[in-house]
Amino acid sequence: MDLFEYQARDIFEKYGVPVLQGIVADTPEGVRAAAEQLGGVTVVKAQVKTGGRGKAGGVKVAKTPDDAEAAARDILGLDIKGHVVKKVMVAEGADIKQEYYFSVLLDRANRSYLSLSSYEGGMEIEQLAEERPDALARVEVDPGTGLTLEKAKEIAVAAKFPAELVDTVAPVFVKLYEVYTGEDATLVEVNPLVLTGSGDIIALDGKVSLDENAGFRHPDHEALEDKDAADPLEAKAKANDLNYVKLDGEVGIIGNGAGLVMSTLDVVAYAGENHGGVKPANFLDIGGGASAEIMAAGLDVILGDPQVKSVFVNVFGGITSCVAVANGIVKALEILGDAATKPLVVRLDGNQVEEGRAILAAADNPLVTLATTMDDGADKAAELANA
Ligand SMILES: Nc1ncnc2c1ncn2[C@@H]1O[C@H](COP(=O)(O)OP(=O)(O)O)[C@@H](O)[C@H]1O
Ligand SMILES: [Mg+2]
Repeated sequence: MDLFEYQARDIFEKYGVPVLQGIVADTPEGVRAAAEQLGGVTVVKAQVKTGGRGKAGGVKVAKTPDDAEAAARDILGLDIKGHVVKKVMVAEGADIKQEYYFSVLLDRANRSYLSLSSYEGGMEIEQLAEERPDALARVEVDPGTGLTLEKAKEIAVAAKFPAELVDTVAPVFVKLYEVYTGEDATLVEVNPLVLTGSGDIIALDGKVSLDENAGFRHPDHEALEDKDAADPLEAKAKANDLNYVKLDGEVGIIGNGAGLVMSTLDVVAYAGENHGGVKPANFLDIGGGASAEIMAAGLDVILGDPQVKSVFVNVFGGITSCVAVANGIVKALEILGDAATKPLVVRLDGNQVEEGRAILAAADNPLVTLATTMDDGADKAAELANA
């Protein structure tokens, strides 16, 4: 989960990373009040989860509360790379002498942590990496020993910080690493980290990505979620512990186990070539125990997607018996009642398959078509989606 800059700022502050005051507002009047409260020069900053806000006109310096209000009128509603600005942060203005770059991230390929840093900040990191690769220090940080003050100094030297600055920036690197591990982040990036006219080091921008797999260790992270942005169907699936990913096509897919669901996507896309080019509408893995409640929740999510024209349920009974799955489908359709309106193709195989099919046959729901093989099921579902 990526955080907004203001959320990263708040976390930085909690860990003692030097930051400036910032107040979030979502109206020009609110921005004026925030600027009055902060006093002096302020900077109005678009809060969107994408970089390059400055270049896109999403970061504006304001000398007076009037200027801040005017800047807010320009920035609120602005579309920055497909992200519409709904909130801004009014930050204290910094007297920037120099801009640096620092980040620490999860290096999956090397099963380690990696710190990227540069004495030459202020530009996009991708651009820096391309145009001035030697100016970007890449230093591995062993997760076992962590980022000690000694290591931080080594990083500062590698990033070409002059000797007199190494001792000033190194403790800030250590604190940023404490944010990274303390919050179970996969990325903590500060661009720019600045040196002010009075010689202070300040994190002026912050990008933090949290590892959602560690969410159970951080009950406070839930409050950081951007509920407005969440797709309602994804939210519903998440609330029911279903692995759901929305895709662009017309055939809803429910399967058990990620491997089976992924191959079902392929088979449906292939079958769709013979039926007007229909494609999978989603990825939905109901996991191991397909109880009636789970099946109902899964169907409810999929049938709630207006793009879905037909649904293909492809389940292999392993530990879960096909009887439980069949009962789950029958009860799910009962639970959903009139809400279930789209045709369902069901292919069951594996443990107790005959009994499972018999249950579905006996229920004789007009929406349900039984398929014997995965290919047949995919073909039938694609045909129905194209009807
Ligand atoms: N509080 C601030 N005071 C002064 N200048 C700022 C402030 N915040 C940002 N800036 C300037 O605006 C630039 C872009 O802001 P930043 O927060 O890095 O957004 P982005 O990376 O999305 O463009 C910074 O490099 C810095 O020069
Ligand atoms: Mg930035």
